[in-house]
Amino acid sequence: MSSTVAQLFANITNLKSPPKMHLHWIPSLIRNMQKTLDIEKIRSETPGCSHKIHFNNAGSSLSPQSVTDAVISHLTLEQKVGGYEAAEEAKHLLSSFYVEFAKLLNCDESEIAFIENSTRAWELAVHSITWAYGDQIITAENEYGSNYLGLLHIAKQKKVDLITVPCDELGVVSLKQLEKSITSKTKLIALTHIASQRGDIQPATAVGAIAKKYNVLFLLDTCQSVGQINLDTKELNCDFLCGSGRKYLRGPRGTGFLFAKNRILRSLEPIFLDLHSASWRDSKSYEFIKTAKMFECYERNVAAMIGLSTAVQYLSELGINAIEERISHLSSVLIAGLSELQGIRVLEKSHHRSGIITFTKDNIDAKILRNELQKRNINVSVCKQQNAQLDLGVELTGDVTRVSLHYYNTRQEVSEFLQALGEIK
Ligand SMILES: Cc1ncc(COP(=O)(O)O)c(C=O)c1O
Repeated sequence: MSSTVAQLFANITNLKSPPKMHLHWIPSLIRNMQKTLDIEKIRSETPGCSHKIHFNNAGSSLSPQSVTDAVISHLTLEQKVGGYEAAEEAKHLLSSFYVEFAKLLNCDESEIAFIENSTRAWELAVHSITWAYGDQIITAENEYGSNYLGLLHIAKQKKVDLITVPCDELGVVSLKQLEKSITSKTKLIALTHIASQRGDIQPATAVGAIAKKYNVLFLLDTCQSVGQINLDTKELNCDFLCGSGRKYLRGPRGTGFLFAKNRILRSLEPIFLDLHSASWRDSKSYEFIKTAKMFECYERNVAAMIGLSTAVQYLSELGINAIEERISHLSSVLIAGLSELQGIRVLEKSHHRSGIITFTKDNIDAKILRNELQKRNINVSVCKQQNAQLDLGVELTGDVTRVSLHYYNTRQEVSEFLQALGEIK
């Protein structure tokens, strides 16, 4: 880090001498400066807040008005001037997609790809690795259902071994077991940062450190964590990181992204290519471009991509640390309230909880409960046991109800929800 910046930091923080710092810390320091959220203003910029209690942010959150405006504005431009011409005019907005994500994840713009959803991004990453017979993949038993299917599929197709590490009594992946499972054949650790069906935050940084120690690739699914907690690809030591736009990032549906570390890009072979991701040299050869764009397709929903970029910019202005703190506060208010209700069993057990809280209510099926809450203008969702068999199948006999809070939710909404929940018999 330059001595001037270090001195400046020392002055701001009242340190006697400049600390020893590295250049890659700067974006992280800037992002970590705490801001205060103006919830009233945020809610006035979120039209959906005015008539619903939206506790299904892990499904798809409410977009700010600016995101919807950006999407509509681009669609209108396409209608007026033509799709390709509109994209040309919006060039700067499209490039800001990469700039915004690079800031959010503390990485380089060249390490970011726009992908239509998280599952596709995850699959593109896994299938770009060169697999050999007998290679090994390690995952955890709370891995997202679609990812687990993807792992079963690749294990069958490529004849690689799939090892599933259990979670401990606190619902987090056992680091000891994980490290013990690594052999000379281990090529990939695939972890979901926050599961869809249980909101405990997995120790991703510790897993990344293990992956680094053994020189194993690390793929992190941050579908439920991006936008609600601070993610730094350098601290996480991950090689791939994927997520979707419509959840905690508050972007439009049909959007997602993939981070692929520059250092590994040359060793990857994406399974699909087009004239955007590769160049055609001559009748016998072609070449992939050397950035994460090797995973992209030329054709895409440009308006939605601009919408997601706008959403990330909105988030950055609020500050991820303030968001994280607000969600964590609301989440503890909710948990405290749930613990006072009869017949409620909360599934989260760790000390690192997110805005996702799942529970069962005695004698009421999760779907019926969701429908009853919907009648009262409260959106929650259901996590199907079938889709999280290795996790929910062990101790439960049915589906679970999921409440997922975002920073724009309020304590008042939490109280109204708890009251409604108590009334439903
Ligand atoms: C943890 C996790 N990973 C991946 C996904 C899939 O995301 P997408 O629908 O964008 O493919 C989800 C969706 O709910 C999820 O919760």
